[in-house]
Amino acid sequence: MEHRTSDALAGGVLLRDVEEGDLPIFLEHQLDPAANQMAAFQARDRDAFMAHWMKILGDDAVVKKTILFGDQVAGNIVCYQQSGRWLVGYWLARQLWGRGIATRALAGLVAQVQVRPLHAHVAKHNVGSIRVLEKCGFAVSGEDESPCPASGEIVEEFVFTLSKYSLR
Ligand SMILES: CC(C)(COP(=O)(O)OP(=O)(O)OC[C@H]1O[C@@H](n2cnc3c(N)ncnc32)[C@H](O)[C@@H]1OP(=O)(O)O)[C@@H](O)C(=O)NCCC(=O)NCCS
Repeated sequence: MEHRTSDALAGGVLLRDVEEGDLPIFLEHQLDPAANQMAAFQARDRDAFMAHWMKILGDDAVVKKTILFGDQVAGNIVCYQQSGRWLVGYWLARQLWGRGIATRALAGLVAQVQVRPLHAHVAKHNVGSIRVLEKCGFAVSGEDESPCPASGEIVEEFVFTLSKYSLR
């Protein structure tokens, strides 16, 4: 998918292409227990995480952006196709939560990526991510559930969708 190399957004937020040197920083973000609880996601260990990201870096069909806040690597945002549906996902450093960075990053991504519909699966308890999606024009289109790899418990999810008819 074609996309620009970097895109300056409001509030000191910038999306740029992911560089291999960002991966150890993403790994630290991904290992945060509070973030894992929020996303109902079991952290990958270093080797699995690096292998996963090297695969992503080699896949031109995946849109992957580093989110910069000033000159800090604040997190990442991705857009990829799975079973014929386009999905978005994002992950921010815990120390930068609550500053509007994810909202700006997602708004920037959906402005860059023209494909619709775009979907996101979000744990029902992930109030922050739900708010980010709503602020970017996504609306609930369904529900899903998946087993949490850590506990085996079933995680209830909302499916959010940004359709071509959404206001954004
Ligand atoms: C979810 C996440 C991306 C939010 O990032 P963020 O930069 O803090 O989000 P924003 O600052 O843009 O916040 C957007 C809105 O959500 C609200 N919000 C953010 N985190 C919240 C929380 N934990 N509880 C309640 N509201 C929250 C903000 O108040 C804001 O709402 P408002 O504008 O109405 O005040 C971030 O917490 C994160 O990376 N979490 C771990 C990974 C994850 O959950 N990824 C998404 C998987 S679907």
